[in-house]
Amino acid sequence: MKTPANPFLITGYHSPEYFCNREDETKKLLEAIRNQRNTTLVSLRRMGKTGLIKHVFYNLADKKDFSIHYMDLLPTSNLHGFVQEFGIAVLKTIEERTTSWIKKIGQIFKTIRPIIKVDSLSGQPSISFDFRNQEEILYTLEDIFRFLKTFDKRVVIAMDEFQQIRKYPDPNVEALLRKHIQTMGNVNFIFSGSLKNILLSMFGEYSKPFYQSTDILYLEKIDKSIYNGFIHQKFEMAKMKISSDEINYILTLTQNHTFYVQYLSNRLYSRNSRLIKKDMIDEVWCEILHEREGMFYNYRNLLTEFQFKLLKSIAKEKRINQPYVKEFLKKHNLGTPSTVATALKALLVKELVTEEYGTYFVQDVFLSSWLDSNFPDY
Ligand SMILES: Nc1ncnc2c1ncn2[C@@H]1O[C@H](COP(=O)(O)OP(=O)(O)OP(=O)(O)O)[C@@H](O)[C@H]1O
Ligand SMILES: [Mg+2]
Repeated sequence: MKTPANPFLITGYHSPEYFCNREDETKKLLEAIRNQRNTTLVSLRRMGKTGLIKHVFYNLADKKDFSIHYMDLLPTSNLHGFVQEFGIAVLKTIEERTTSWIKKIGQIFKTIRPIIKVDSLSGQPSISFDFRNQEEILYTLEDIFRFLKTFDKRVVIAMDEFQQIRKYPDPNVEALLRKHIQTMGNVNFIFSGSLKNILLSMFGEYSKPFYQSTDILYLEKIDKSIYNGFIHQKFEMAKMKISSDEINYILTLTQNHTFYVQYLSNRLYSRNSRLIKKDMIDEVWCEILHEREGMFYNYRNLLTEFQFKLLKSIAKEKRINQPYVKEFLKKHNLGTPSTVATALKALLVKELVTEEYGTYFVQDVFLSSWLDSNFPDY
């Protein structure tokens, strides 16, 4: 694998060297897999769920008795899309893409033959299904599950952004998947997603088909001092000097939120400076916020004046426990608790504000910082 040009990755996963910590979480996931339990992985957006799944898979890759599959459900909007992605995820990792592979597919997929095209340049096969009706979709879903049962190896499937299935217009998708998943003795799943409430209600409510069927792993922020050490080591290896205090300043600006830490560090690294001081960190941070300014002003157009005012007030507080108490309302001139409640609900639905452990905050750390620094008085 090629060494990354910048050690602070802002997309994807490379190898353990560029992945900070997550040792406990990795252990937990591996233990669940080894003991044939399914896990639901939940966190705030951009905290590192996908990275963790890839890291766990990296650790499993050399274990020859596992067949590992990853699928991202974010682009899917119905069961058709799900079955398509599922088919691709399951078929893609089969090692021998030979005539016997194609023959095996032919034996399993009785209803609908997947269309396999091989890219003439890369030699990579692409797989698609051409469904004519809902029945063919359902049969193919069964075919895929049946296909998985024929694997000699233990199978691990990660379904990323799993909450997406809630948005499908097809009826009873959860019950349908649950029915299949329950019968898969040799297959374990990692369900991953960001919308905590949706995921928890999907897995935690008594009436829901996935009730109590999985372990739940909530991904917190990476330990500050461990992240500090990681960042220090990466700069040091490139002979760029940065003090522990300055790294803590990076962690403060980015609220120690993984993606934002990675992004700011990546941009600082690309300055290729011998010595990184606080004013350079400020300069790069301002540059990043400035680049996003157009987008941020656009958010303003999508909100009512009051919603925007509340958004600013929350950004200024960083985190707010009780958005309805007098001090908060008075300090930011926000009127009555009921108007705040309505506006807050809208901001939560738009996912501009998030709630975690009963506290509210602006989800996008860049936006939060921009709001805080650009609207001194109102
Ligand atoms: N432990 C880590 N060490 C270093 N970088 C990480 C770590 N975890 C994640 N990252 C990086 O942080 C960024 C965000 O992580 P990731 O995409 O895994 O988050 P996510 O929770 O899946 O986000 P989303 O909610 O958008 O799906 C990625 O660029 C990833 O490479
Ligand atoms: Mg992700």
